[in-house]
Amino acid sequence: MQSSTPIYFATSQNLDDVLSALPKEGQAWAKANRFEAKKGQLCIIPNASGAIEATLFGLGDENKSKDSTAFEAGALPIKLPHGHYHYANDEKVWNDDERHLATLAWYLGSYRFDRYKENSQPMPELNWPEGVDKDLVLLQAKGSNLARDLINIPASDMGPDELEAVTRGLADTHGASLSVTKGEALLEENFPMIHAVGRASTREPRLLDMVWGDEAHPKVTLVGKGVCFDTGGLDIKPGSSMLLMKKDMGGAANVLGLASMIMAAKVPVRLRVLIPAVENSIAGNAFRPGDVLQSHKGITVEIGNTDAEGRLVLGDALSLADLEKPDLLIDMATLTGAARVALGPDLPPFYSDDDELVGEIASAAKAQIDPLWHMPLWDGYDANLSSDIADVNHISSGGFAGSITAALFLRRFVGEAKSWVHFDIYGWAPKAMPARPKGGEAQAIRALFSVISQRYKD
Ligand code: BES
Ligand code: MN
Ligand code: ZN
Repeated sequence: MQSSTPIYFATSQNLDDVLSALPKEGQAWAKANRFEAKKGQLCIIPNASGAIEATLFGLGDENKSKDSTAFEAGALPIKLPHGHYHYANDEKVWNDDERHLATLAWYLGSYRFDRYKENSQPMPELNWPEGVDKDLVLLQAKGSNLARDLINIPASDMGPDELEAVTRGLADTHGASLSVTKGEALLEENFPMIHAVGRASTREPRLLDMVWGDEAHPKVTLVGKGVCFDTGGLDIKPGSSMLLMKKDMGGAANVLGLASMIMAAKVPVRLRVLIPAVENSIAGNAFRPGDVLQSHKGITVEIGNTDAEGRLVLGDALSLADLEKPDLLIDMATLTGAARVALGPDLPPFYSDDDELVGEIASAAKAQIDPLWHMPLWDGYDANLSSDIADVNHISSGGFAGSITAALFLRRFVGEAKSWVHFDIYGWAPKAMPARPKGGEAQAIRALFSVISQRYKD
């Protein structure tokens, strides 16, 4: 095995034990540098010749928080000098599940988006911690990093064509099939809302439909909002709100990341991924506020604001997904600013009428350190979607509870699926956190991978 530098994880509780494992000089160095095991505190200890002897990393006071500290380890790769390292006391600090997460955190924390800018600084490397499932860690990291990459790539290089190409690549890798309904064919095949939202772009709107696995297995369908850029349409966004809208395909990016995990782990499900891939642009043929659209489901939809485009493309995709009565129907979307007002960027709300599923997701979110918060499909607000001239208005009158009413609108397109759950994600880390570099972010998919693996294990 490659010689490597030990990393000691120190808490207020174990600090004395950790220090006593070091040579006298090392203990003196740590004290002189005021190492107190504060959360995120790093102390690099030299030997007599000035090389690195050991590193200490603080996890804080174990009594102060009930949350696992395993993801703190994800701060290390960007802090440590290049070289080989190993976790020296992880078995004493964490249980097996947490050691898995602390290893995954290292890989998630090593992510850099370097497509347009060479990084000269090589990342430090971790010797594999004993007993941690390497395949599982790597497939989870790969799925999450795929989602991050797709979000980070600007809209100029990640339009509907490119999103289709990525999906095709994933399908080829795992032996899935992909069918694409594009441009005018969307009207022939009855996806009027996907067509309406995407038709003003020079890059043709389309619906991607990927299918994988044994037809006899339970049907799990993932639907992801693939708005490759959201100008707002004729209800154009102000510059500051438009700036980040390359990430409006974050739902699609995340369902592709989740699909890659499910397929790599060969979970015994019949998986389907539906991605309406469009650009919400402005041109003479753009859909307008006040228009009434037909929908795949057959209900008419009055357009209140062309910037509420996500729920329209999802409505058609959900209504198609619903036809085959899947066992589990999941959609993910960067759907509303209101979700951020309610819970901020790091805690996506999710919605479902299936209480058992809600419980599974909530506990997986905690166990996987993939924060999620259950919000209600509040029936009382459904009436706010009524329209004088169509079956439904796609935004609510009043403007309150925007994330809930968006979820209620989506519910109008689902009815046959055994369970349905909707995630209103942000898909972006506005600032770096341990294991979560700034930029495009995977949300909810590690929790969902855990739920799906548990539900459908053979
Ligand atoms: N993609 C946006 C939502 C969004 C904005 C997500 C900022 C994350 C960050 C979506 O298409 C949108 O514009 N929603 C509108 C809906 C409104 C017009 C009813 C919103 O939330 O303001
Ligand atoms: Mn919008
Ligand atoms: Zn949008």
